[in-house]
Amino acid sequence: MADIPALAERLAALVEGDARDAQAARAVFTVAVSGGSTAARLYPRLAEASVDWTRTEFFWVDERIVPPSHPQSNYGLAASLWLWPAGVPAARVHPPNTEDPDFARAAARYAAELERVAGSPPVLDMVLLGVGEDGHVASLFPGRAALEATAPVVSVTDSPKPPPERYTFTLPVLTSARRVVIAAFGASKAEAIREALDEPDSPLPVARVARRAARVVFLLDPAAHGTARRPSRLTSDASRLCG
Ligand code: 6PG
Repeated sequence: MADIPALAERLAALVEGDARDAQAARAVFTVAVSGGSTAARLYPRLAEASVDWTRTEFFWVDERIVPPSHPQSNYGLAASLWLWPAGVPAARVHPPNTEDPDFARAAARYAAELERVAGSPPVLDMVLLGVGEDGHVASLFPGRAALEATAPVVSVTDSPKPPPERYTFTLPVLTSARRVVIAAFGASKAEAIREALDEPDSPLPVARVARRAARVVFLLDPAAHGTARRPSRLTSDASRLCG
């Protein structure tokens, strides 16, 4: 639990450390990013992180199906706040194609691109997730079919959060990442966070990701941590660190 600038510092240190380790072990660092308020608040600090961006491959955990120049584009948000200011080479940037009218084909092509870079089945070094008030992560919403999908990428046409049409990585991809970072700010997220931290059988997407991933870091401001009983630093085991 900390204020947002301190959480941004912690995230920058995690990205720097994981990038260094991944690039030493496997030559490249692979990361998948979100949109939303956490991106807006955390990514400007990441643009200043000390990382070899020429050996960092960027994907999106989810993308709204709008043109890349649209104000709602998650690609556009991350590009303007992080990738462009950091000088990430265009060849390292892998958004889904949101201009293909055939959503199934675009999702399959995005999965193929992910597998080309991160292996099959794909294992990303890091995924950065925001959390919705309803406990969604990426565009995996509670009770929806995409939550049970086994393909790496699917399209969603009925997202309860606008816009309705999106591409999303599925649970197998998110939970296979070497590190999952879950960021949430504000009291509106407190109930979803409390359930993810305190209820071992919660069906919420955020809870399912947190349970199944090998290494999870929660970055929470005090309002989002709310009344969760689980200690703010360590959760169920020493590898599961909360901020
Ligand atoms: C998006 C995101 C989405 C987001 C959550 C939380 O397309 O909006 O990628 O998964 O992370 O909805 O968003 P907020 O932080 O804005 O509430």
